[in-house]
Amino acid sequence: MEIIDYKKWSNKATEWGSNYLLDLKNKPVRPNIEPGSVASLLPNTPPEEAEDPELIFSDFEKIVPNAMTHWQHPRFFAYFPSNASVASIVAEQLVNTIAAQCMLWQTSPAATEIEEVMIQWLRSALGLPKYFSGTIHDAATTATLSAVLTMRELALNHKGLEQGLFEQKPLRIYSSAQTHSSIDKAVRLSGIGQNNLVKIKTDDNFAMRSDLLEEAILDDIANDLKPAGIIICIGGTSIGAFDDVKSIIKIAKKYKLYTHVDAAWAGSAMICPEYRLLWKGVEEADSIVFNPHKWLGAQADCSVQFLSNPTAQINTLGLRPDYLQTLEQDEVTNFNEWTIPLGRRFRALKLWFLLRAYGLKGLREIIRNHIKWVEELEEKLNSDSKFKVITNSRLALFTFQYVPVGEDANQATEELLKRINNDGTIYLTQTTHEGKFVIRMTAGQFYCTREDIMTVYEVLKKLT
Ligand SMILES: Cc1ncc(COP(=O)(O)O)c(C=O)c1O
Repeated sequence: MEIIDYKKWSNKATEWGSNYLLDLKNKPVRPNIEPGSVASLLPNTPPEEAEDPELIFSDFEKIVPNAMTHWQHPRFFAYFPSNASVASIVAEQLVNTIAAQCMLWQTSPAATEIEEVMIQWLRSALGLPKYFSGTIHDAATTATLSAVLTMRELALNHKGLEQGLFEQKPLRIYSSAQTHSSIDKAVRLSGIGQNNLVKIKTDDNFAMRSDLLEEAILDDIANDLKPAGIIICIGGTSIGAFDDVKSIIKIAKKYKLYTHVDAAWAGSAMICPEYRLLWKGVEEADSIVFNPHKWLGAQADCSVQFLSNPTAQINTLGLRPDYLQTLEQDEVTNFNEWTIPLGRRFRALKLWFLLRAYGLKGLREIIRNHIKWVEELEEKLNSDSKFKVITNSRLALFTFQYVPVGEDANQATEELLKRINNDGTIYLTQTTHEGKFVIRMTAGQFYCTREDIMTVYEVLKKLT
């Protein structure tokens, strides 16, 4: 394929994509295929000779779509959503064509400056104070690792970067057990070590107990360990738990600990002022991550990290070898110094398209509808004795069990989930909560309707 062929193939891909999205609701959410069945259709070695694009495209159509789980399906209710509004898809098509590597202002002036402005726009959309700046990462995992590395370096007076952790007191990071496994990954990768992630017990509402947090910090100090930072959970993956940001940050300030708020999923809901109570006190945090690709409608990957003072992170992650020096570097932002990889995609364009194409009003309506309809579904399950809601809706997530009389609820729920996902009309996943096998119900796909969400109840009735 040559540049002159681009228009033809790109138009063909767009036409295919439009039909795909329009037809998705008529397909099962997950494919019914055996592991290995796709790989077995591909040759073991790459072709020596160029192949006909028609053949490549028809193989794609034959092999790929029916072997994919359709994340943009309006009845995808598993995990958390990974969205792709049409406006953000179009922006990504443009980015894919420009294909810039946005490590420095000089290598990508528009990308850098639009990223800065999108951070400002989102800061204002989420009601955060003006002193927050920030950057865009690929994933919340990377943003959290960046924050944990920053905690590490602040606690070690920036000695870790050059000397390693050798001969240093063990560092300690605190979180509740409701936080996502990306926190565990960050402490492992940062060299702090899993055993130094202290999981603080939660209260009846599954929020970290700040009295126990303070006790743990004092214990650690008494045992010659070095507290470094706290991860605050805003919308945990399992059941949507929220920590009390204010009380945790009060303790963090008392012991001069860095705080990172993981709002990867729930952060998008903060564009609606009525939900901001859920992270009251967040303006005092050092670092906050949220993924517009989860619930706001930006195509993955797009994870925004706000920083109250970026210097500590830049001092931790930034390096300026000779070959990256540029003339204007003191006047501009070189975002590679804020993030882990040197090479960066132009992720801000899809935010620019998204925010303009739907407006905050339109995006708020989508999120409010998801929450309202999920609560309506929860009500239906509450009034049906075959089901038991185990954790109530937190934003657009609740969990439930199937509780047929005389049967073991864990086993019955697990078997029901298998039947649901084999049926294919909807897609749900599970978690374990206080020893119970529960089904998580969460909605957030950009184009899902009330009818799509109510289909969950229809499927449950059909399969029980
Ligand atoms: C609360 C929370 N934090 C972090 C993550 C990790 O997100 P990412 O895939 O962007 O690394 C997830 C993923 O679902 C999550 O739910």
